[in-house]
Amino acid sequence: MKTIPYPVSEKRVMWDSLHSDEIWPAYYLSKLMRSGIITTKELEGKHVLDIGCGASFGRSSKSDYIENSHFIAQLAELYVGCDISGYVLAEARKIISVYPLKEKCALVLADAKELPFADGSFDTVIMIDTLYLLGNDAFSALKECTRVSRGQIIITAFHSDGLDPTIPTIPSQKGKEYGTITQKSWSPIEQIFFTKEQMSLILDELGLNGKIFVLTNHEYDSLRSSEESYPSATVNELIVVKASKRP
Ligand SMILES: C[S@@+](CC[C@H](N)C(=O)[O-])C[C@H]1O[C@@H](n2cnc3c(N)ncnc32)[C@H](O)[C@@H]1O
Repeated sequence: MKTIPYPVSEKRVMWDSLHSDEIWPAYYLSKLMRSGIITTKELEGKHVLDIGCGASFGRSSKSDYIENSHFIAQLAELYVGCDISGYVLAEARKIISVYPLKEKCALVLADAKELPFADGSFDTVIMIDTLYLLGNDAFSALKECTRVSRGQIIITAFHSDGLDPTIPTIPSQKGKEYGTITQKSWSPIEQIFFTKEQMSLILDELGLNGKIFVLTNHEYDSLRSSEESYPSATVNELIVVKASKRP
Protein backbone atom coordinates (compact mmCIF):
# COMPACT_ATOMS: atom_id res chain seq x y z
CA MET A 1 0.00 0.00 0.00
CA LYS A 2 1.36 3.41 -0.98
CA THR A 3 1.61 5.96 1.83
CA ILE A 4 2.75 9.54 1.57
CA PRO A 5 4.21 11.62 4.42
CA TYR A 6 1.64 13.95 5.87
CA PRO A 7 3.08 17.38 6.75
CA VAL A 8 2.56 19.10 10.06
CA SER A 9 -0.31 21.54 9.52
CA GLU A 10 -2.19 23.95 11.79
CA LYS A 11 -5.15 21.56 11.74
CA ARG A 12 -2.99 18.61 12.76
CA VAL A 13 -1.48 20.59 15.65
CA MET A 14 -4.97 21.61 16.78
CA TRP A 15 -6.16 17.99 16.84
CA ASP A 16 -3.04 16.86 18.69
CA SER A 17 -3.71 19.45 21.34
CA LEU A 18 -7.43 18.55 21.62
CA HIS A 19 -6.56 14.88 22.05
CA SER A 20 -3.97 15.60 24.72
CA ASP A 21 -6.93 16.81 26.84
CA GLU A 22 -9.28 13.96 26.03
CA ILE A 23 -9.66 10.97 23.72
CA TRP A 24 -13.28 10.09 23.10
CA PRO A 25 -14.08 6.44 22.59
CA ALA A 26 -17.23 5.76 20.58
CA TYR A 27 -19.48 2.73 20.29
CA TYR A 28 -21.63 3.71 17.32
CA LEU A 29 -21.03 0.53 15.28
CA SER A 30 -21.85 -1.69 18.23
CA LYS A 31 -25.04 0.28 18.72
CA LEU A 32 -26.00 0.39 15.06
CA MET A 33 -25.53 -3.37 14.84
CA ARG A 34 -27.98 -3.70 17.71
CA SER A 35 -30.48 -1.59 15.76
CA GLY A 36 -30.03 -3.73 12.63
CA ILE A 37 -28.76 -0.80 10.48
CA ILE A 38 -25.28 -2.31 10.25
CA THR A 39 -24.76 -6.03 9.79
CA THR A 40 -21.62 -8.15 10.02
CA LYS A 41 -21.88 -8.65 6.23
CA GLU A 42 -20.40 -5.18 5.59
CA LEU A 43 -17.25 -5.99 7.56
CA GLU A 44 -16.68 -9.75 7.63
CA GLY A 45 -13.56 -10.75 5.68
CA LYS A 46 -13.29 -7.25 4.17
CA HIS A 47 -10.47 -4.76 3.74
CA VAL A 48 -11.79 -1.84 5.76
CA LEU A 49 -10.62 1.77 5.99
CA ASP A 50 -11.69 3.64 9.16
CA ILE A 51 -11.31 7.41 8.64
CA GLY A 52 -10.86 9.51 11.79
CA CYS A 53 -10.15 6.31 13.66
CA GLY A 54 -8.99 7.78 16.99
CA ALA A 55 -7.82 5.14 19.45
CA SER A 56 -10.91 2.97 19.86
CA PHE A 57 -9.48 -0.49 20.38
CA GLY A 58 -11.14 -1.28 23.71
CA ARG A 59 -14.47 -2.04 25.27
CA SER A 60 -16.72 0.07 27.41
CA SER A 61 -15.91 -0.48 31.06
CA LYS A 62 -19.54 0.29 31.91
CA SER A 63 -21.35 -1.82 29.32
CA ASP A 64 -20.95 -4.58 26.78
CA TYR A 65 -20.37 -2.12 23.93
CA ILE A 66 -17.23 -2.60 21.87
CA GLU A 67 -15.26 0.44 20.69
CA ASN A 68 -15.42 1.09 16.94
CA SER A 69 -11.91 0.12 15.76
CA HIS A 70 -12.00 -3.09 17.80
CA PHE A 71 -15.47 -3.84 16.47
CA ILE A 72 -14.22 -3.56 12.87
CA ALA A 73 -10.89 -5.33 13.46
CA GLN A 74 -12.63 -8.37 14.98
CA LEU A 75 -14.57 -8.96 11.75
CA ALA A 76 -12.38 -7.54 8.96
CA GLU A 77 -9.55 -9.25 7.12
CA LEU A 78 -7.57 -5.99 7.09
CA TYR A 79 -8.15 -2.95 9.30
CA VAL A 80 -6.57 0.36 8.22
CA GLY A 81 -7.23 3.32 10.49
CA CYS A 82 -6.31 6.85 9.50
CA ASP A 83 -6.42 10.03 11.53
CA ILE A 84 -5.12 13.58 11.26
CA SER A 85 -3.65 13.46 14.77
CA GLY A 86 -0.22 11.93 15.31
CA TYR A 87 -0.89 12.16 19.05
CA VAL A 88 -3.99 9.98 18.89
CA LEU A 89 -2.30 7.50 16.53
CA ALA A 90 0.62 7.21 18.99
CA GLU A 91 -1.95 6.35 21.70
CA ALA A 92 -3.59 3.85 19.34
CA ARG A 93 -0.18 2.28 18.57
CA LYS A 94 0.48 1.79 22.30
CA ILE A 95 -2.82 -0.10 22.60
CA ILE A 96 -2.21 -2.08 19.39
CA SER A 97 1.29 -3.16 20.50
CA VAL A 98 -0.39 -5.63 22.89
CA TYR A 99 -3.52 -6.16 20.80
CA PRO A 100 -4.23 -9.77 19.78
CA LEU A 101 -5.34 -8.68 16.29
CA LYS A 102 -2.37 -6.38 15.63
CA GLU A 103 -1.17 -8.41 12.60
CA LYS A 104 -4.15 -7.29 10.56
CA CYS A 105 -4.11 -3.64 11.67
CA ALA A 106 -2.32 -0.62 10.20
CA LEU A 107 -2.50 3.04 11.15
CA VAL A 108 -1.82 5.94 8.81
CA LEU A 109 -1.49 9.65 9.50
CA ALA A 110 -3.66 11.42 6.92
CA ASP A 111 -6.25 14.12 6.38
CA ALA A 112 -9.68 12.81 5.36
CA LYS A 113 -9.84 15.33 2.54
CA GLU A 114 -6.70 13.96 0.86
CA LEU A 115 -6.26 10.26 1.44
CA PRO A 116 -2.94 8.58 0.55
CA PHE A 117 -4.60 5.49 -0.97
CA ALA A 118 -5.16 4.42 -4.56
CA ASP A 119 -8.65 4.43 -6.09
CA GLY A 120 -10.79 1.48 -5.01
CA SER A 121 -8.35 0.25 -2.33
CA PHE A 122 -10.97 -0.84 0.23
CA ASP A 123 -14.08 -3.05 0.28
CA THR A 124 -15.64 -0.90 2.99
CA VAL A 125 -14.87 2.68 3.97
CA ILE A 126 -16.13 3.82 7.35
CA MET A 127 -16.20 7.28 8.87
CA ILE A 128 -17.78 7.33 12.31
CA ASP A 129 -18.36 10.42 14.45
CA THR A 130 -15.89 12.39 12.32
CA LEU A 131 -17.68 13.99 9.33
CA TYR A 132 -19.36 16.62 11.52
CA LEU A 133 -15.93 17.81 12.64
CA LEU A 134 -14.73 18.52 9.11
CA GLY A 135 -16.65 21.75 8.44
CA ASN A 136 -15.90 23.07 4.97
CA ASP A 137 -13.81 19.99 4.12
CA ALA A 138 -16.74 17.60 4.56
CA PHE A 139 -17.60 17.33 0.87
CA SER A 140 -13.96 16.77 -0.18
CA ALA A 141 -13.72 14.07 2.48
CA LEU A 142 -16.87 12.34 1.19
CA LYS A 143 -15.41 12.51 -2.33
CA GLU A 144 -12.27 10.79 -1.04
CA CYS A 145 -14.36 8.09 0.70
CA THR A 146 -16.01 7.43 -2.65
CA ARG A 147 -12.72 7.36 -4.56
CA VAL A 148 -10.94 4.86 -2.31
CA SER A 149 -13.96 2.55 -1.91
CA ARG A 150 -14.73 -0.40 -4.19
CA GLY A 151 -17.79 -1.38 -2.15
CA GLN A 152 -19.66 0.00 0.82
CA ILE A 153 -19.37 3.40 2.45
CA ILE A 154 -20.73 3.77 5.99
CA ILE A 155 -20.85 7.20 7.57
CA THR A 156 -22.43 8.82 10.57
CA ALA A 157 -23.36 12.49 10.61
CA PHE A 158 -25.60 14.76 12.65
CA HIS A 159 -28.91 16.24 11.54
CA SER A 160 -29.27 20.03 11.53
CA ASP A 161 -32.73 19.91 13.14
CA GLY A 162 -32.53 21.15 16.66
CA LEU A 163 -29.34 23.15 16.14
CA ASP A 164 -28.99 25.73 18.89
CA PRO A 165 -30.07 29.03 17.20
CA THR A 166 -27.66 31.00 19.42
CA ILE A 167 -24.66 29.33 17.76
CA PRO A 168 -23.71 31.40 14.70
CA THR A 169 -23.66 29.73 11.30
CA ILE A 170 -20.79 30.52 8.96
CA PRO A 171 -20.92 30.57 5.18
CA SER A 172 -19.51 27.74 3.13
CA GLN A 173 -16.16 28.65 1.57
CA LYS A 174 -16.81 26.48 -1.45
CA GLY A 175 -19.69 28.62 -2.71
CA LYS A 176 -22.06 25.69 -2.29
CA GLU A 177 -24.07 24.91 0.84
CA TYR A 178 -23.63 21.20 1.43
CA GLY A 179 -24.79 21.56 5.02
CA THR A 180 -25.01 24.06 7.87
CA ILE A 181 -21.63 25.01 9.27
CA THR A 182 -21.40 26.38 12.81
CA GLN A 183 -18.61 27.37 15.13
CA LYS A 184 -18.95 27.87 18.87
CA SER A 185 -17.10 30.95 20.09
CA TRP A 186 -14.81 28.90 22.35
CA SER A 187 -14.10 26.12 19.84
CA PRO A 188 -11.45 25.96 17.10
CA ILE A 189 -13.59 23.43 15.23
CA GLU A 190 -16.10 24.22 12.51
CA GLN A 191 -18.88 21.66 12.68
CA ILE A 192 -21.20 20.68 9.83
CA PHE A 193 -24.78 19.40 10.08
CA PHE A 194 -27.06 18.09 7.37
CA THR A 195 -30.69 17.55 6.54
CA LYS A 196 -31.69 14.23 4.98
CA GLU A 197 -32.34 16.09 1.69
CA GLN A 198 -28.86 17.65 1.68
CA MET A 199 -27.27 14.29 2.34
CA SER A 200 -29.32 12.78 -0.47
CA LEU A 201 -28.10 15.49 -2.90
CA ILE A 202 -24.49 14.87 -1.84
CA LEU A 203 -24.84 11.13 -2.51
CA ASP A 204 -26.30 11.95 -5.89
CA GLU A 205 -23.48 14.36 -6.75
CA LEU A 206 -20.92 11.73 -5.77
CA GLY A 207 -22.58 9.07 -7.93
CA LEU A 208 -23.61 6.97 -4.93
CA ASN A 209 -26.72 4.89 -4.36
CA GLY A 210 -27.64 4.37 -0.80
CA LYS A 211 -29.87 4.52 2.21
CA ILE A 212 -30.01 7.39 4.66
CA PHE A 213 -31.31 6.55 8.11
CA VAL A 214 -32.26 9.29 10.55
CA LEU A 215 -32.39 8.18 14.15
CA THR A 216 -34.04 10.49 16.63
CA ASN A 217 -32.17 11.06 19.85
CA HIS A 218 -34.79 8.93 21.54
CA GLU A 219 -34.23 6.02 19.13
CA TYR A 220 -30.51 6.39 19.39
CA ASP A 221 -30.60 6.59 23.17
CA SER A 222 -32.79 3.51 23.32
CA LEU A 223 -29.80 1.57 21.98
CA ARG A 224 -27.82 2.55 25.04
CA SER A 225 -26.98 -0.03 27.58
CA SER A 226 -28.48 0.60 31.00
CA GLU A 227 -25.00 0.61 32.56
CA GLU A 228 -23.93 3.63 30.54
CA SER A 229 -24.07 6.71 32.68
CA TYR A 230 -22.99 9.32 30.13
CA PRO A 231 -25.07 10.78 27.30
CA SER A 232 -24.52 9.01 24.01
CA ALA A 233 -25.84 11.25 21.22
CA THR A 234 -24.85 14.90 21.46
CA VAL A 235 -27.50 17.46 20.57
CA ASN A 236 -28.84 16.35 17.22
CA GLU A 237 -30.44 13.39 15.58
CA LEU A 238 -28.01 10.92 14.13
CA ILE A 239 -27.81 10.35 10.36
CA VAL A 240 -26.40 7.05 9.16
CA VAL A 241 -25.47 6.65 5.49
CA LYS A 242 -24.91 3.28 3.84
CA ALA A 243 -23.98 3.73 0.19
CA SER A 244 -22.07 2.31 -2.74
CA LYS A 245 -21.10 3.55 -6.19
CA ARG A 246 -23.74 3.40 -8.89
CA PRO A 247 -23.06 0.53 -11.27
C1 LIG B 1 -14.88 11.98 17.77
S1 LIG B 1 -13.40 11.20 17.20
C2 LIG B 1 -14.05 9.67 16.55
C3 LIG B 1 -13.03 8.55 16.68
C4 LIG B 1 -13.47 7.17 16.15
N1 LIG B 1 -13.97 7.21 14.79
C5 LIG B 1 -14.50 6.55 17.04
O1 LIG B 1 -15.63 6.41 16.59
O2 LIG B 1 -14.17 6.21 18.19
C6 LIG B 1 -13.03 12.10 15.70
C7 LIG B 1 -11.67 11.77 15.13
O3 LIG B 1 -11.51 12.41 13.86
C8 LIG B 1 -10.16 12.84 13.74
N2 LIG B 1 -10.12 13.90 12.71
C9 LIG B 1 -10.52 15.18 12.80
N3 LIG B 1 -10.33 15.84 11.65
C10 LIG B 1 -9.80 14.93 10.78
C11 LIG B 1 -9.38 15.00 9.42
N4 LIG B 1 -9.48 16.12 8.71
N5 LIG B 1 -8.88 13.89 8.86
C12 LIG B 1 -8.76 12.72 9.55
N6 LIG B 1 -9.15 12.60 10.85
C13 LIG B 1 -9.67 13.69 11.45
C14 LIG B 1 -9.82 13.31 15.15
O4 LIG B 1 -8.42 13.38 15.36
C15 LIG B 1 -10.51 12.26 16.00
O5 LIG B 1 -9.66 11.19 16.29
